[in-house]
Amino acid sequence: MKHYLNLDAIPDLQSAIDEVIDLKNDPYAAEDLGRQKTLGMLFFNPSLRTRLSTQKAAQHLGLKTMIMNFSNEAWALEFEDGTKMNGLRSEHIKEAAAVVSQYCDIVAIRAFASLSNKEKDEEEQVLKCFARYTSIPVINMESATAHPLQALADAVTIKEQLFTKRPKIVLTWAPHPRALPHAVGNSFTKMVQKLDAEFVITQPKGYELNPKITKNIPLIYNQEKALEGADFVYAKNWCSYNDYGKILRSDEEWMITAEKMKLTNGAKFMHCLPIRRNIVATDDVLDDSCSLVIEQANNRTYAAQWVLKKLIENG
Ligand code: CP
Repeated sequence: MKHYLNLDAIPDLQSAIDEVIDLKNDPYAAEDLGRQKTLGMLFFNPSLRTRLSTQKAAQHLGLKTMIMNFSNEAWALEFEDGTKMNGLRSEHIKEAAAVVSQYCDIVAIRAFASLSNKEKDEEEQVLKCFARYTSIPVINMESATAHPLQALADAVTIKEQLFTKRPKIVLTWAPHPRALPHAVGNSFTKMVQKLDAEFVITQPKGYELNPKITKNIPLIYNQEKALEGADFVYAKNWCSYNDYGKILRSDEEWMITAEKMKLTNGAKFMHCLPIRRNIVATDDVLDDSCSLVIEQANNRTYAAQWVLKKLIENG
């Protein structure tokens, strides 16, 4: 594994899940592996879980961390080639990435979608430019179109809670007052397709995800019908993909409630967090033992640790 930019970097998801669980059972087993190495963490957007869990994962491996909020602490970066830099952008990615490579052995980057220009977002300019111009491995801590650290943690959480041979997993759109990106929905969808599971997506019309990612997956516009018999309910908001960046509806009809959870097969409730209570899901869902949201967050540490370990081992 040269970089961890998306789930395609994982050669065998089942083996990866088992290895993450091994790390969880013995987090300090390789505490010298990262000794005298440094992980740089560059944030173009806010974070709670990704920042702390990745830092904790690094600590388990003996890695030092350097963290920078690029959006307000660093020089504004220019990403285009051949530009005459007489505007607001003070530093070119070519120098910035090369310089970061002098100080760090691995760099992790968070750079969300703009949600204003679909083509640009799908180019993954920030992540791909860092990968092109650094000489060190790059980890995706959520980019415009993917959140592969979250998806690996979610795969582990599902495996730990699996009590049926072939579970029914439902990804349901849920309301939100702000336009949110597609990264979590995309990576969850890609991840579940690698599991032995019945997978269904449910959402209001107009909220279809990128059809290249969801092709062949059953799409049900009736949420209550989709929830019937579910073993796992993963709620997530995302903005419209076709009418890019737009919020088409924000009413409560699609909120996950205890009544809706009764339609399932005693399903576990999942969400990547942060979650808006009584907007995405009601208090009685989040406070019930069916909720796995804290365990998902816990598993972020060991998913990140697996990625860091692989990158160090691969030199
Ligand atoms: N789920 C997740 O990535 O959380 P943060 O945005 O807080 O890092």
